[in-house]
Amino acid sequence: MTVTVVDHPLVQHKLSLMRDKSTPSNQFRQLLREISHLLAYEVTRDLPLEMRDVETPLQTAAMPHIAGKKLALISILRAGNGLLDGILELIPSARVGFVGLYRDEETLTPVQYYFKVPQAIEDRLVIVVDPMLATGNSSCAAIDMLKEAGAKNILFLCLLAAPEGLQTMATQHPDVPVVTAAIDKKLNEIGYIIPGLGDAGDRMYGTA
Ligand code: URA
Repeated sequence: MTVTVVDHPLVQHKLSLMRDKSTPSNQFRQLLREISHLLAYEVTRDLPLEMRDVETPLQTAAMPHIAGKKLALISILRAGNGLLDGILELIPSARVGFVGLYRDEETLTPVQYYFKVPQAIEDRLVIVVDPMLATGNSSCAAIDMLKEAGAKNILFLCLLAAPEGLQTMATQHPDVPVVTAAIDKKLNEIGYIIPGLGDAGDRMYGTA
């Protein structure tokens, strides 16, 4: 599995502001949106291009365009929506899907409550977005479902990854590259990333 850490100074600076517990929800969402533009730029670096004619005011000439079917962005609810919104601003024609999972408190395993993905998923680059790769259990469960639905070319994009989550991903989905803004130290005893930024969904929506 390949792991790419986007260590661009703008990403790192904005991420540090997001980690600060005194950063309010509106600013947190705005920073997440700004970082998602920069991450989207990185994650789409290798998209194939094809030449198609463009009529400029002066002449017709072959110019590069992104080739193939429109890519699919899959948000893992609910925190994935923060990354999704920013990426969609940069790639407005992307198709969008959602995976909803909750954790069964008895078995501690992820249970699906929503799954809706674009048609022809097997022909698209599928970018799964979730800000926090913590235990990796829900991300891996979401990727299992996407593969079951036919997805073949999958990439996982997050903001923060724990070593434990990266290990789970490497074991269960070694074919899925991970792109993240940072790899933190560890998980605490209740599965939060340390030092982390807290609960991403709560920080985004002010539900703490
Ligand atoms: N999910 C979060 O929102 N935060 C963590 O630290 C771990 C999982």
